[in-house]
Amino acid sequence: MHHQHVIVFGSINMDLVTKTNRLPIPGETLLGQSFSTVPGGKGANQAVAVARLGVPTTMVGRVGKDSFGEQLLTSLQSAGVCTKDVFLDESHSSGIAVITVDDQSENQIIVIPGVNGQVNEEDVERLTHQLSGASALLLQFEVPIAAVQLAAQAARKTGVRVILDPAPITCELPIELYSLVDIITPNAIEVEQLVGFRVEDPETAAQAAHLLRQRGVNTVVIKLGAQGAFCATIDDTFFIPAIAVDAVDTVAAGDAFNGGLAAALAEGLSIRQAVVWGAAAGALTATKPGAQSSLPNRAIFDTFLCKNGYS
Ligand code: RIB
Repeated sequence: MHHQHVIVFGSINMDLVTKTNRLPIPGETLLGQSFSTVPGGKGANQAVAVARLGVPTTMVGRVGKDSFGEQLLTSLQSAGVCTKDVFLDESHSSGIAVITVDDQSENQIIVIPGVNGQVNEEDVERLTHQLSGASALLLQFEVPIAAVQLAAQAARKTGVRVILDPAPITCELPIELYSLVDIITPNAIEVEQLVGFRVEDPETAAQAAHLLRQRGVNTVVIKLGAQGAFCATIDDTFFIPAIAVDAVDTVAAGDAFNGGLAAALAEGLSIRQAVVWGAAAGALTATKPGAQSSLPNRAIFDTFLCKNGYS
């Protein structure tokens, strides 16, 4: 099958992951169960998620000239992601994320951006050479928002669909950014930060989506984790219930969702099918530990869809 390619502009982190029975309270010392380093970063995870589903993918971002940087590039490349536009920055360290996961599969994440914080218009310039003929540009907020906005503008100029995962939200979004976005994909926490009220079910999701559409976004997909996903487009609203799984670690489940969504659209599927793919990729990812280590390949993904009545 001929695919349009997908471009991801964003962060690349090494995840430093500890497993504990429960998350510590402030001031408390706990004895944990294990420690591992796993390639992650919301940008890189989304790139690997798309590539593992068989869609040609290019990553644009930065790694440091350190051992994490090398491992991060290798992880992207072994998933089939093109890394020729990942800049090796000699003057800053690779990004890291300090992650704690407990027995209930709850997690806490602190990101130290490192070189991701240096991403700027030079990276956007490299991106513009990749845009022609692309199906989508995937964006998140682990690189400076000014660069994200420039990237969105460049994609809009070329007619490439912009899919924004507004994670994490660290400041108010510039109002001009909304109208550059084709699809925004907040989770429950992020959508509450964006609209100022709690979103916990399809009804409140519909109200939030309405508001975000009024701000200029074309399509709103709200990721409600184990509940499912709500979607509002210009002429349709629908809810896709989650496929129930035994979750062990939800790290990168949101990234897998965006990867699944983008892969489906690159294959020419409808937005409804794309939300199904997103929800399925997110669910499968929650069944395995770690970020890039947990993202499904196409064979596993197809079997899972089929087993759950989607084919
Ligand atoms: O979304 C999960 C990711 O968030 C992790 O891989 C970590 O690097 C942080 O960026």
